[in-house]
Amino acid sequence: MKYTCKDMDSSPDILLMCGKFSTFTTKITHFSYRPMENFKDLVQKRRSVRKFAEQEIQAEDLQTILRAALMSPTSKGTRAWHFVVVDDPVLLEKISLCRSMGSQFIAGAKVAVVVLGDRDVTDAWCEDASLAAVTMQYQATDLGLGSCWCQIRNRFMENGEPSDNVLRFLLRYPENLTAECIIGFGYPAIERKPQDEDKLKWENVHIGSFPEED
Ligand SMILES: Cc1cc2nc3c(=O)[nH]c(=O)nc-3n(C[C@H](O)[C@H](O)[C@H](O)COP(=O)(O)O)c2cc1C
Repeated sequence: MKYTCKDMDSSPDILLMCGKFSTFTTKITHFSYRPMENFKDLVQKRRSVRKFAEQEIQAEDLQTILRAALMSPTSKGTRAWHFVVVDDPVLLEKISLCRSMGSQFIAGAKVAVVVLGDRDVTDAWCEDASLAAVTMQYQATDLGLGSCWCQIRNRFMENGEPSDNVLRFLLRYPENLTAECIIGFGYPAIERKPQDEDKLKWENVHIGSFPEED
């Protein structure tokens, strides 16, 4: 069963009806998950994951991730983003070739969400799309899923073709939409250490103002 933007708009439950997303796998092949106790732990735990286990993402979890995106803040409340959910391995492979480097991990993702902004509706499309993307990443972490951002805006194929054009051709989105990024999701096949508290760049935090020059 294939999804279209229209399907997603009209019926979010379409994900639950899809056979593939209802798959439950008994063999645990990903790193174990302990639910977050609070947001402080969650932000420390989130790391970019680019290698994914075989286990499928459950439909409920994918829906929760998309729900988080749809609840993310937008400039003037325009909510002018669009999300293309891709789970077809052949299409994921094609998408992974849209950049000369940095996008290859998408081929191994169980699901990729292409995050699009509408330039005709808001000049803050890039910010809105970015916030939706990172909100999905935190939600994924909370569900025990790994994710990684693949930058699309201002990125190109080796021959100079904008990555956004490649995706527009593959996914058929209209000219007024631009892809900010793709977020690849799946259960982590590698364990990533949480953020190191001792390596935080506290020196980049400036209280009140930058210090006066001597
Ligand atoms: C705006 C942005 C663009 C990124 N682009 C890519 C990318 O194209 N490919 C990739 O593998 N990772 C990409 N990343 C992930 C970063 O490499 C990663 O967040 C960074 O190395 C810090 O690691 P952490 O996420 O594990 O804390 C991107 C992250 C951000 C926020």
